[in-house]
Amino acid sequence: MRNLTPRQKQILDFVTKYSNKKGYAPSHKEIGKHFNLSSTATISQHLQTLTGKGYLKREKHQKRNMEIKSLETLISVPLVGTITAGEPIETYEIPEKISVPKNLLSQQGEHFALTVNGNSMIGEGIFSGDTVIVRRQDTAKDGDSIVALINGSETTLKKIYKEKNGFRLQPANPELKPIFVKQLEIQGRVISVIRNLETLVNKINCGDVLETIRKIPDNSVHLAITSPPYNVGKNYDNHNDKMEYSDYLDWLYKVWQETKSVLVSGGRFAINIAPTGIKDFVPIHHDFIAQLRKLGMKFRTEIIWYKQTMLKRTAWGSFKSPANPHIVPSWEYVLIFSKDQDRLDGDNGMADITKDEFMKFSDGFWQIQPERHRKGHPAPFPEDLIYRLVKFYSYKDSTVLDMFGGTGTVATVAAKTGRNFIHIDVSPQYCKIAKDRLEKEINQGKLV
Ligand SMILES: C[S@@+](CC[C@H](N)C(=O)[O-])C[C@H]1O[C@@H](n2cnc3c(N)ncnc32)[C@H](O)[C@@H]1O
Repeated sequence: MRNLTPRQKQILDFVTKYSNKKGYAPSHKEIGKHFNLSSTATISQHLQTLTGKGYLKREKHQKRNMEIKSLETLISVPLVGTITAGEPIETYEIPEKISVPKNLLSQQGEHFALTVNGNSMIGEGIFSGDTVIVRRQDTAKDGDSIVALINGSETTLKKIYKEKNGFRLQPANPELKPIFVKQLEIQGRVISVIRNLETLVNKINCGDVLETIRKIPDNSVHLAITSPPYNVGKNYDNHNDKMEYSDYLDWLYKVWQETKSVLVSGGRFAINIAPTGIKDFVPIHHDFIAQLRKLGMKFRTEIIWYKQTMLKRTAWGSFKSPANPHIVPSWEYVLIFSKDQDRLDGDNGMADITKDEFMKFSDGFWQIQPERHRKGHPAPFPEDLIYRLVKFYSYKDSTVLDMFGGTGTVATVAAKTGRNFIHIDVSPQYCKIAKDRLEKEINQGKLV
């Protein structure tokens, strides 16, 4: 159960043992008593996460106030080793047993699990650090993902295709070449993949947003905060900030889709955006709102971030005349959405916002100076903006994601306030800035 936190694993173990013994699942109250947790909201949150990850099945309105209908049977599968393309499987002397939900196995046959090392199967959604569940079998169909032994000792994880004089072993990664072999020994077929959240959490993940976000297990992020490129021709390290507007929106729509998937029920999404263009006004924020509503996200509010930058005016239009005067945006928006439900369940003991902060932040007009001192990036967040969002919308211990992380403002504030973070950015240069910043401010040399 590599994608569960220790607490989730403990709760799952308790529910499993209880259900096996009594034939029915424990109530929230019983779970709370066992773990000394007074908040049923916290228990609900854990059960929801376990359900989202496929470990539990729940049905509402059952007797004894229970929501758990039946426990998905967990099957113990040996984790036999690590597979790295082109090398023999590094087997563990004593295979660790992992519990896998029955629905991740095939109905019949013997199964084993392997930890994957390397990027040769990313096109199939198998990433380095993931665990694959393999059904032991010695035959396969064209296009199956298989574990095969080639040249007597090399083991590899690839897609298999029959060729005239042998087999083509095709990586699911366009950057890697296929291998052609006359003979091979099929050891098993990949049935399912278990994502490993630990490989991404509290790390600076340098890579493309869509490739990286797809590695995050569904239902595992409590708050996403981001500011995408605004498509105004800013000089980013390696991103084209002047795309066709429709391509730009299509690209971001995919990012929003993935963001929704990784959010827990009740998880929040805060997008910072501003209308662009003064003469040729582009209401990007309207388009984002329409996109997110189309995706079924609930639009909760908009915060006005008043930047107090009017002193630096450059565009007046028809000065002192109503002929064609321009309004200069001196503000940006933070648009707030939530997934499935308004409420983010959690332990109120982990709510760390003070009364004064709550009173101040719940007024949606936020006067915050833009960040002027951070060097090496054209558009960093001011820390205060992120601090307010993190404190207002998440509990301590929540996981906060920034898909366009830049200089690591979200990561830094999340870490400073006792949250976990997932930082993604495509630029190695900005990732280095973010990593150095975290090293300096938080980890004092301990960041990996
Ligand atoms: C508006 S900036 C975010 C700045 C950030 N909020 C901060 O505090 O530094 C947008 C970021 O998106 C990143 N970006 C652009 N294209 C990307 C992609 N395809 N995948 C991941 N990040 C990307 C850019 O490198 C840039 O750092």
